[in-house]
Amino acid sequence: MELAKPVYDSKRRILLGVGSKVHLKYLEKLDQIGVKYLFVDDVKSKGISLDEMMDMPTWIDMISIVEQAFEAAAKDEFLPLLEIQKAVKKLIEEVKQRNAIVLIPTTAVDRALIPFAHMVNVTLIALQIGKKLGYTNSQLNDLGIGCLLHDIGKVKTSIREDHPESGFNIIRANREISLMSAHIAYQHHETLDGEGFPRKLAQDQVLELAQICSIANDYDNFISLEGLLPHVALEKIMTLSDKKYGHHIVVAFSKGIISYPPGTNVQLNIGKGIVTRIQSNPHRPVVRLHQLQKEIDLNEQPTILVEVVLNEEEEMSKL
Ligand SMILES: [Fe+2]
Repeated sequence: MELAKPVYDSKRRILLGVGSKVHLKYLEKLDQIGVKYLFVDDVKSKGISLDEMMDMPTWIDMISIVEQAFEAAAKDEFLPLLEIQKAVKKLIEEVKQRNAIVLIPTTAVDRALIPFAHMVNVTLIALQIGKKLGYTNSQLNDLGIGCLLHDIGKVKTSIREDHPESGFNIIRANREISLMSAHIAYQHHETLDGEGFPRKLAQDQVLELAQICSIANDYDNFISLEGLLPHVALEKIMTLSDKKYGHHIVVAFSKGIISYPPGTNVQLNIGKGIVTRIQSNPHRPVVRLHQLQKEIDLNEQPTILVEVVLNEEEEMSKL
């Protein structure tokens, strides 16, 4: 197996480049720095590309800007506004050029970068939802900045319940940033049922933009921290509809993410295969069947079901 995407260390330097062979000694080292997720090419996945995923160098650039913003806030300096605006503009472009998004799990980088990578992932998903809801560029901008900084309050407090307000205050000290963006940080742990924090807001009191940040926050945590597969994370989000965030937001979210990303090994009710691409429906991929050596578009074959996602390691150990 060879690496299909590079691995970066805490200084954002390439540790292992594309095409590196994945040796056991590397895996031990990667485990030490907290890298739990690798993109690999093997015989079955040859020729499959993940167009729905942001390219890794751009993702790393965005992470670096968030890191700078957090460092400035920790030192009570002004936030690097131009850089933040540039990052949000880039993320809006990334979202506009794709019908659906697949996240790079934050565990694909050194653990020191995970908190910043999380901000970028939340922003990507939030902007994707905003786009599906028909937001204007100005709304997407407010949403993007609020999401990119939503946890910035953590630099001032280690008490979980306090970070939303602390983040609100940091953002408000930068007057060029909209009040709406500051409220996203303030409200991103509030829930429609009034069980959230810090103010236990409920129903209409929770801004739509904050609900979007909340769902994006949950989704990245499910994918990156809990290691859930995308279709399982989607199911989990569904169960929280109208409890944590509005149903219309869950619907918009489900239109913009992919259940079975290209490269996923699946057991269908007609045999085993690998997802090669997403055509029209983000939850009904095109699958290459191993035995028949042909591709089928599940969106055109409603009777064919994905029964289970196959674990590549288990598959390998059976060979
Ligand atoms: Fe948070």
